[in-house]
Amino acid sequence: MNPGIAQLQPYPFEKLRGLLDGVRPPADRELIDLAVGEPRHPPPEFVLERLAESLATVTNYPTTTAGPALRESIARWLAERYGLDDTELAPTQHIAPLNGTREGLFSFAQCLLDRTPDSRVLCPNPGYQIYEGAALLGGAQPAYLDTTAETGFLPNFDAVSKKQWENIQLVYICSPGNPTGAVMPEQTLIHLIELADKHEFVIAADECYSEIYQDEGSPPVGLLQVCAQLKRNDFRRCIAFHSLSKRSNLPGLRSGFAAGDSQLIQTFLRYRTYHGCTLPRFIQDASTLAWRDETHVRENREQYRKKFDLARQILEPVVEFDFPAGGFYLWLATPVDDQQFAKTLFQEHHIKVLPGSFLGRPANGSNPGQNRIRVALVGTLTETELALHAIARCFTQTQQPTPD
Ligand SMILES: Cc1ncc(COP(=O)(O)O)c(C=O)c1O
Repeated sequence: MNPGIAQLQPYPFEKLRGLLDGVRPPADRELIDLAVGEPRHPPPEFVLERLAESLATVTNYPTTTAGPALRESIARWLAERYGLDDTELAPTQHIAPLNGTREGLFSFAQCLLDRTPDSRVLCPNPGYQIYEGAALLGGAQPAYLDTTAETGFLPNFDAVSKKQWENIQLVYICSPGNPTGAVMPEQTLIHLIELADKHEFVIAADECYSEIYQDEGSPPVGLLQVCAQLKRNDFRRCIAFHSLSKRSNLPGLRSGFAAGDSQLIQTFLRYRTYHGCTLPRFIQDASTLAWRDETHVRENREQYRKKFDLARQILEPVVEFDFPAGGFYLWLATPVDDQQFAKTLFQEHHIKVLPGSFLGRPANGSNPGQNRIRVALVGTLTETELALHAIARCFTQTQQPTPD
């Protein structure tokens, strides 16, 4: 067996099932599940129509690179979203289609890491567990960089020592972040690129939440955008991962892409020929259309904004509320142990949220997810409102008495 398998942690939702096993929720209340980050807004009709129209293409094997239409549509989207017109960005050179970012973020590490015993992969903590698993199964060890209120919920790359940098081959970043919603500023990305040149590592930017943000006039900056601003027109050492799952409410389509450094992309495509993940033609056709349209994406953001406004109104009076710049999660500090809080919420209100400690690792002394919960605002406005009131009640009821 790959020795990394034994080091894999159960997935957070498995831990949640264990936590809630045997806990009886009130029988008269419907479950509101705000634990899983699965978008539940309706997907765009025109994409579903194209999907159905293209089903006859199942008679052919799709290729690893996908057809030109999809890659051109992605390149156009990237160029417009991030101002890449003056870069070398070419659909055939700089883009690899993926079955969603999860698969790509994972397999990229298998392609990149050299399996030397000291190799390390830097991951945000708390963070998306796939980075950790990708490191372990790629023959490396994960190294964790805590993102806490003190660091503005962002990794502080200056906290990594020179000695540590020597072994780091890959750095995962996530902006907007899951679970914190923090957006990495341009200056931090510039600094990280300088470090990548100095210490010779690759940056994998998970930008799957890039199109869910609060301020319509200020979309989150992306890694490739910063490359363009630096006139780093070949995107050396930089790869960004995107997906239609959150942007277009199509998590079941399994459609995304990686884009950036052409040498890395070409090697990744070679790896993927063996890996065998290809996008079926009907998914390519539907995705080509989805990347061309921004109207549904704006409407999607508007739906999230309404829920965030509600969250602010309902929760601000009872809990310190860090309004996330992007993504669709609330990352709330709990007055009692996060697992206990999640259990109480389920037991008394039939609401599922994710204990923050399931998303963090106690690698640097304490678990930075401890005493936080992640609330995914993915439901309807009505169920979100119901759930937020219940969460607010739970906050008030579980406040620990302040010591004299
Ligand atoms: C941070 C992060 N990255 C990647 C993914 C995977 O998304 P997908 O594979 O649907 O693109 C998720 C899904 O929830 C996520 O939260």
